Amino acid sequence: MAKYTIAPSLLAADFARLGEEASKVLQAGADVLHLDVMDNHYVPNLTVGPLVCAALRKYGIKAPIDVHLMTRPVDHLILEFAKAGASYITFHPEASDHVDRSLELIRQQGCKAGLAINPATSLQHLEHVWDKIDIVLMMSVNPGFGGQQFISSSLEKIAKARQLINESGKNIMLAIDGGIKADNIFDAARAGADMFIAGSAIFSQPDYATVIADMRAQLAKSK
Ligand code: DX5
Ligand code: ZN
Repeated sequence: MAKYTIAPSLLAADFARLGEEASKVLQAGADVLHLDVMDNHYVPNLTVGPLVCAALRKYGIKAPIDVHLMTRPVDHLILEFAKAGASYITFHPEASDHVDRSLELIRQQGCKAGLAINPATSLQHLEHVWDKIDIVLMMSVNPGFGGQQFISSSLEKIAKARQLINESGKNIMLAIDGGIKADNIFDAARAGADMFIAGSAIFSQPDYATVIADMRAQLAKSK
């Protein structure tokens, strides 16, 4: 039976009450917190740095924190986020001059390592690093903003990535990020995703537990 991970993206949370929002969404049934780091360079938006990750830990958040680096370069921030309590660190291959080295750096810090694949990025980036990745993060929107429309061709890419992961024989999570909600999560799971990152679909609703329960009900159908 597949094990599914729901990872709310804090990008859509109320930043003025971030600790409270993070614990509320975990109490509502989330497994992991997704933290979108944007640098106004690799993507045209600016969000948070390692200080905010450390502040969440200080606040008492114990759940895994999944740091999604949409920054260029990545290596220095890998070190800083690992120190700040990140559990998983994912970056975009276009943003590192030495992808293999950056992946190794993440694992050396004791974190799980991920590669994020944009809608127009080839899955070939994964080809020589299967033994160095723990997560493939498939972008189903172009990175930079929350609340965008799900790009449906990403389902085909998810299916292809699932096939490649299965062929690799490795224990690698397949995450989908962007435009995920209760009414498309089933399709994403059926295509092979097992980790679902959702920002606006969760935080725009008054009751996070209801949305997460709806999502889990949809996921249960795909087993
Ligand atoms: C986009 C981010 C996503 C985004 C998800 O650059 O990587 O994590 O915040 O937000 P929604 O679910 O609103 O598309
Ligand atoms: Zn993200």
